[in-house]
Amino acid sequence: MTPHDDIAGLIQTAIDASKNAYVVYSGYAVGAALVAADGRVFTGCNVENAAYPAGVCAERTALVKAVSEGCREFVAVIVVTRGGGAPCGICRQALAEFAPDLRVVIADMDGRVHHDTTLRHLLPLSFGPADLEG
Ligand code: THU
Repeated sequence: MTPHDDIAGLIQTAIDASKNAYVVYSGYAVGAALVAADGRVFTGCNVENAAYPAGVCAERTALVKAVSEGCREFVAVIVVTRGGGAPCGICRQALAEFAPDLRVVIADMDGRVHHDTTLRHLLPLSFGPADLEG
């Protein structure tokens, strides 16, 4: 994984991103650092809304930033929350569209890694693009 397998640095990048979280309703800040196959890193934070379902998670913020910049291949995502919470089901599905073999590192705001796993483990037997073929 690039850049240079610097997990600690990527965790710090995600923590920095979480500081922009707009979480006036939940108070639960999330930061994400999505590492592209070409080495680029796209950050994201959660952005809530008075109409609650309109809020967006940190992981999907990063994903949409990346795809909208023409980037579609990813190798890892680093997600940070205060307690090491795991990505929600919608984010797992959204990430699986582009990177079913993604590495997923889940850490807390102190930089402690809670899980170092894969999207296939977090979303087994997933529905994907191949299911729509034929
Ligand atoms: N949240 C994320 O940003 N990512 C997740 O995968 C889990 C939940 C956000 C959504 C909401 O702004 C807050 O955390 C509480 O659910």
